[in-house]
Amino acid sequence: SPSGRYEAEAATCDGTIDSNHTGFSGSGFCNGTNAIGAAVQFSASVASAGSTTIAVRFANATAAVRPADLIVNGVRVQAVSFEATATWTAWTTKTLTIQVNAGVNTIRFSPTTAGGLPNIDYLDV
Ligand code: GCU
Repeated sequence: SPSGRYEAEAATCDGTIDSNHTGFSGSGFCNGTNAIGAAVQFSASVASAGSTTIAVRFANATAAVRPADLIVNGVRVQAVSFEATATWTAWTTKTLTIQVNAGVNTIRFSPTTAGGLPNIDYLDV
């Protein structure tokens, strides 16, 4: 069952917590540094091990996809493409399915190109 919403401003953000683009949840979003490996990492607690759908909310008003590695508990599990959105306020949610452990899991998005991550608002787990 879903355990909750993890705001990016409460996560580890390799960048700044900004609030200049409206429509975010909570008090801001993670504006990751535009660099390979400038990541955002969430610590999410789940009740039981197994397959879980997660949802990451982001905005990317550049023309280009911003690709990232999804790293769960230290293991790269898949590539994620953060597609372009119309504006920086056009927040979009992407769902992904991962395997989790019971208890706390680290869920990390680490960009693989120099553009870095999109702006990240939250992760639902
Ligand atoms: C702009 C935008 C930022 C965004 C950045 C980027 O500066 O205002 O919110 O993070 O572009 O390209 O990542």
